[in-house]
Amino acid sequence: MSNEARAGVTIVGSANMDIVFTVERTPLPGETLLAESAARFPGGKGLNQAVAAARAGAATRFIGAIGHDENGTVLAATIADAGIAGDLVRRTPAPTGQAFIVVDGSGENTIIVASGANATVTELGPADRAALDSAAVLLMQLELPLGVVRSAAAEVHRAGGVVILNAAPAQELPRELLADLDYLIVNEHEACLIGGSEDLDAASTTLAALVDRLVVTLGAAGSVLFADGIEAGRIAAPRVDPVDTTGAGDTFCGAFAAAIAEGADFADAARFATAAAALSVQVVGAVPSVPDRSAIDAALEVRSAG
Ligand code: RIB
Repeated sequence: MSNEARAGVTIVGSANMDIVFTVERTPLPGETLLAESAARFPGGKGLNQAVAAARAGAATRFIGAIGHDENGTVLAATIADAGIAGDLVRRTPAPTGQAFIVVDGSGENTIIVASGANATVTELGPADRAALDSAAVLLMQLELPLGVVRSAAAEVHRAGGVVILNAAPAQELPRELLADLDYLIVNEHEACLIGGSEDLDAASTTLAALVDRLVVTLGAAGSVLFADGIEAGRIAAPRVDPVDTTGAGDTFCGAFAAAIAEGADFADAARFATAAAALSVQVVGAVPSVPDRSAIDAALEVRSAG
């Protein structure tokens, strides 16, 4: 298939119902705290990234699994409302994935995920493979079984599409998977864990040598880009007051993938993604905080004028 005939961003990933408790500080072991508020929001790294790609303007397809339960019905509506093609989302007897999230007074979060239906996505079917073969960009995370992540990466790499992996939550990655990636996106913690060093520079250098291009996101400090094993640039983040950082990394990844699918170069895609992520931390919740294209473009214009 020619590159012109490929379209959009396909996400193979997780979908969760997030249960978010807002507290002044995270409780200590054995301690009980009263929360300021509790709420449920659609989430899951895969679904957050799919919503981010769609709101950034990409034709987006989501491949994943949800249960037949009420949470699954809410997430199916989220997929439809965002204009994401959800025809390859499986409905399973297993319960929809859930995430228990504690957001502290500085907007930082801690998350525990019960995978549920996400863990049942162990194989790609013929219809999944056909969709992947025509995708311009594949974007994945690590909340689905690793085998399916490897299969999807190999499929899209073979078909000539762009493969992006956000290695979250971090785990050791097989060399074959790394070789199929065009872009690896990690935060500081993930870089150190996968790069095998507590020193971020050393870990980043190790990782950069294993993939074509690497993005290490640094939260409020922006991100560092590596290409062909060496540092290729730094992107500064705008100064904002965060209320909830949940899903900021996902917003970065989805917006980045949308920009790459549109033909943006590495640095421009990272700038676009940084603007999107900075907007997302100013709103509580994962999916509710994902900005749309007009808001991202407006934020970029303000920055270039300033
Ligand atoms: O990255 C944030 C996401 O991680 C949350 O939405 C939660 O569901 C977990 O997957």
